[in-house]
Amino acid sequence: MLLALSFFLVALPVAAQTDLSGFWVLSAPTGDGNFMKSFFELKQSGEQITGSVWVDYDKTAISEGSFRDGKLHVVVKFSSQDPQQQAVADGTLEGDKLHLTVHFPDRDTVVGIAERTTAEAVAPPARLPVPELHDVPDNGLARTPPMGWNSWNKFAGKVDDVAVRGVADAMVESGMRDAGYIYINIDDTWEGPRDAEGNITSNRKFPDMKALADYVHSKGLKIGIYSSPGPQTCAGYEGSYGHEAQDAKTYAAWGFDYLKYDWCSAGRIYKNSDLQAVYQKMGDALLASGRPMVFSLCEYGLGDVWKWGAKVGGNLWRTTDDIEDRWKSLEEIGFHQFDIASYAQAGHWNDPDMLEIGNGGMSADEYRTHMSLWSLLAAPLLAGNDLRTMSEETKSILMNKEVIAIDQDPKAQPVKRISEQGSLVIAVRPLQDKTWAVGLFNRGDAAAKMSVAWSDLGLHGKLQVRDLWAHKDLGKVANQFSADVPSHGVVLVTVKH
Ligand code: GLA
Repeated sequence: MLLALSFFLVALPVAAQTDLSGFWVLSAPTGDGNFMKSFFELKQSGEQITGSVWVDYDKTAISEGSFRDGKLHVVVKFSSQDPQQQAVADGTLEGDKLHLTVHFPDRDTVVGIAERTTAEAVAPPARLPVPELHDVPDNGLARTPPMGWNSWNKFAGKVDDVAVRGVADAMVESGMRDAGYIYINIDDTWEGPRDAEGNITSNRKFPDMKALADYVHSKGLKIGIYSSPGPQTCAGYEGSYGHEAQDAKTYAAWGFDYLKYDWCSAGRIYKNSDLQAVYQKMGDALLASGRPMVFSLCEYGLGDVWKWGAKVGGNLWRTTDDIEDRWKSLEEIGFHQFDIASYAQAGHWNDPDMLEIGNGGMSADEYRTHMSLWSLLAAPLLAGNDLRTMSEETKSILMNKEVIAIDQDPKAQPVKRISEQGSLVIAVRPLQDKTWAVGLFNRGDAAAKMSVAWSDLGLHGKLQVRDLWAHKDLGKVANQFSADVPSHGVVLVTVKH
């Protein structure tokens, strides 16, 4: 989704008669060869400044603005929920140009020049005609939920060639590859401008995409890339708008194996009723490229994507907004996926977003809940941490092979929530070999004793129970299983006759 930003512009003293009213465009070098554009419409009345700011074609009203003693001060709140998202800019007005230094919360500081522009310049480009709907043939990939790593959660805009190579090395050395984590996925901010023929290029952080793909392949891994059907990605980089087939060919020529395709600015151009056709266009383009590429739909669950994601050739589709590395986010996302679990099938998976395990914002119990829940949900397991510096505890969570086996169970039967009492949730998933995976989750703030009766699973008698986090057989248990479950934690067992 859009970065939540606040703007705070400061200009040095200027002549009293200066009136800043009008449209401005701030063109700021990002340090990787790109220029990020933000638009302002300033309306000056005495010392008061009102108006709007556009970031990625998204218009937000200025909530606070003044022009006093030659200093312009503008605050725009993009998020009412997160006051931490503050950006601060300092600048000088030289002639009719504002020289600004903007401190964004989620990006490197940007230094740029705001110039006067026109109202037309802030408008998004036209909606492109969309194709008639048809079913895109299945690409045959991702028969079990994709496993790998994605750069966004940990690196965001700081991902580069060196980091990706280092993560690929660590994927092998840590044992992650052998545990099943195969994809090394570069998320947003790799993009550069288009060349004279309209071909997308990578920016300075990624000097040679083909060489990087070759390197990742040499490690026995696969590599993924990222784009948007809009003119800009969510971080404001070049999207695939109007270049869909051309970009698919470029990714194929570079040797990519996976595309995450993120709605972002497409939302300002297309209607939600266009979603399926817009994603189908890229699904077709990937197939036509001739290189097998996993197709990852990222549109936050808009338009009930689980109902049509497979028809556009999607191998996975995001079902929610972005995850964050905190318990409330994990909980809100993870425990609201049960109702759509049955839409997942071999080759086509619900994606409740990438893992935060090892990023430091949650406890080990919470991360075990994350891993257990995602595995019961048959969610893609895309690690989002820095694999080069993983603790032993993080490794033990990400590489619990018994838990991974639930996620990857070839039968792909959906999980069911069989009980929810206050903050206590029990979810079960039938596995291929007549084993049941049972997760006892405690969302509460205190430890709790939880029980599951075999009759709740349609079973009876004595069943063999194995605790997948303790890695321990608990022997044959009659009638029901009880366990003490820590706050925000889980006890995950398999049961079988
Ligand atoms: C959106 C997506 C994220 C990430 C960022 C990149 O917010 O949902 O997963 O790809 O864009 O800008």
